Amino acid sequence: MKIEVIDLLIDLEAKDAGERVKGIPSSLRMRNITPDVGLFLNILVKATKATSILEIGTSNGYSTIWLGLATQENNGQLITLEVDPRKVKLAKENLEKAGLVNTVKLIEGDAKETLRILEKEFDFVFLDAEKEDYLEFFHLIFPKLKIGGVIVADNVISHAEDLKEYVDFVRANPNTQSVLVPIGRGEELTLKIR
Ligand SMILES: C[S@@+](CC[C@H](N)C(=O)[O-])C[C@H]1O[C@@H](n2cnc3c(N)ncnc32)[C@H](O)[C@@H]1O
Repeated sequence: MKIEVIDLLIDLEAKDAGERVKGIPSSLRMRNITPDVGLFLNILVKATKATSILEIGTSNGYSTIWLGLATQENNGQLITLEVDPRKVKLAKENLEKAGLVNTVKLIEGDAKETLRILEKEFDFVFLDAEKEDYLEFFHLIFPKLKIGGVIVADNVISHAEDLKEYVDFVRANPNTQSVLVPIGRGEELTLKIR
């Protein structure tokens, strides 16, 4: 990884930590994933050789950079969806700094609307939006997910109660295999088997 990108990630991590310490309301914070989850996503995209990647919940692009660097190595494309225009602006600046503008397509708007019209198949999905929407997103994503494709859903430990229905569903689903990866705020790793 280039030194400028490492510096950028460290800077974003410090800003996110500062926002949490100051108690800035959740709706105004960047709410980034933890660095170990960033590395996990980066390794997983490379290990699965995924080339068609979707992220729901870009924020300022912190997780997008981790995903985007792996996507770039795989010569793939990452589509990332974000509804908040302020965060879209920040993400665009950060993706430019990370040299990812040709790898990442950032679509502004409600992901529920975007996914209904997006004609694309994915082999890797990272889900990190509002917790009450995860199941709805799952049903929107699943027909677009290739067999052998994976969904990683963030916050299943930190928001265990809110995400219980989602976790129960993916674990009981005959079309998926699913397991908790206990890093960061808890990642549910789900494989589409049929
Ligand atoms: C937890 S943050 C994402 C953090 C980001 N993945 C990271 O680690 O850097 C969730 C983001 O999802 C966005 N979001 C929530 N609901 C959305 C929707 N329906 N469509 C698109 N974006 C949405 C929020 O604006 C917020 O920026």
